[in-house]
Amino acid sequence: MKKRSIFLLSSIALTLTPLVLASNEPIQPIKAPKGINTAQVELGKKLFFDPRLSKSGFISCNSCHNLSMGGTDNLKSSIGHHWNQGPINSPTVLNATFNLAQFWDGRAKDLKEQAGGPIANPGEMGSTHELAVEIIKSIPAYQQEFKKTFGSDGVDIDKITQAIAEFEKTLVTPNSRFDQWLTGKKDAISDQEKAGYQLFKSSGCTACHNGVAVGGNSYQKMGAVNPYKTDNKAEGRFTVTKKDADKLMFKVPTLRNIELTYPYFHDGNAATLTEAVNTMGDVQLGKKFSKDETASIVAFLKTLTGDRPSFTMPILPPSVDSTPKPVPFK
Ligand code: HEC
Ligand code: HEC
Repeated sequence: MKKRSIFLLSSIALTLTPLVLASNEPIQPIKAPKGINTAQVELGKKLFFDPRLSKSGFISCNSCHNLSMGGTDNLKSSIGHHWNQGPINSPTVLNATFNLAQFWDGRAKDLKEQAGGPIANPGEMGSTHELAVEIIKSIPAYQQEFKKTFGSDGVDIDKITQAIAEFEKTLVTPNSRFDQWLTGKKDAISDQEKAGYQLFKSSGCTACHNGVAVGGNSYQKMGAVNPYKTDNKAEGRFTVTKKDADKLMFKVPTLRNIELTYPYFHDGNAATLTEAVNTMGDVQLGKKFSKDETASIVAFLKTLTGDRPSFTMPILPPSVDSTPKPVPFK
């Protein structure tokens, strides 16, 4: 019996060698999403790009999470309904499916719960769930697609957010050069990039930025070692838990595709990756990197850019006479 189990163990170790090697690293490669409902994805894609979910008829999810870029708006803070300047930087929707919860403070438990937020946020899409449903429901082609997708009549906010969330689950970015290296392609990253990765690990960045998304899996204090100075009013996780210990605790952002999602931090105050890395070294680790060290970490971070999802632009059905009209200026 004993012999047999030893034999089993060693044969498992042999067959799993490449996997075992990758899993010794604090970062794991992205795999393609599984168990996705493709009808919901197609419908969710349309809704993600449909500005009629906003009161103005002008702002879609894609306005602030531009999928032709890195899934953000590349602004310090977002512009919403009535050119309202938002209070916080827009995080990327790419790989958001890996987050332990959604928003900087984690106030939405998953993508579905999150998707209801911006539609009814007066400073974002400025609509209400009732109005958004009324608009979508008035459009016959949507009615039919909802029926086909969900197998029942009717459009409601639950189905809308379910479809959008299912689409967002497909917004993952596998096959970055770093993932190729992790899975055995030795020349996928350069010596400088490798040195940057070693420094990223040895300095302690991986204490917070680890796992498949290189972040997204814990809340950590901004200013763990040295205080972070900002005029931004966000208090992080404290807003949700009201515990003093959670002040300035933010969901650690993913570093996947980080070269695309500038500017950085919840306040958008770091314009460049160089600045963000130096600030992290200082406030999170009490370290001052040399120019070369920062450059190599930045070079490593750029190897985390993966294949962005690409698809044909969704074609949206037109409004009809009875569709509630856009209200852009009120
Ligand atoms: C006006 C700009 C704007 C629009 C429109 C908008 N968002 Fe966002 N989105 C943001 C901002 C800003 C945040 C961060 C808010 C916070 O954390 O308090 C955010 C957060 C998110 C997150 C959480 C990501 C993370 O890492 O925590 C997801 C997912 C998301 N939005 C999806 C959507 C979807 C889906 C829509 C359309 C229904 C949408 N957004 C519309 C600006 C916008
Ligand atoms: C103690 C945990 C912790 C450590 C250690 C840490 N970070 Fe961070 N990192 C965070 C948190 C939390 C944020 C978000 C802070 C904010 O926006 O207020 C962040 C944000 C970032 C961002 C900006 C991401 C974005 O989308 O805005 C980059 C880049 C980054 N970290 C790189 C690094 C590097 C490089 C190191 C090592 C030198 C490091 N971090 C060490 C927790 C940590």
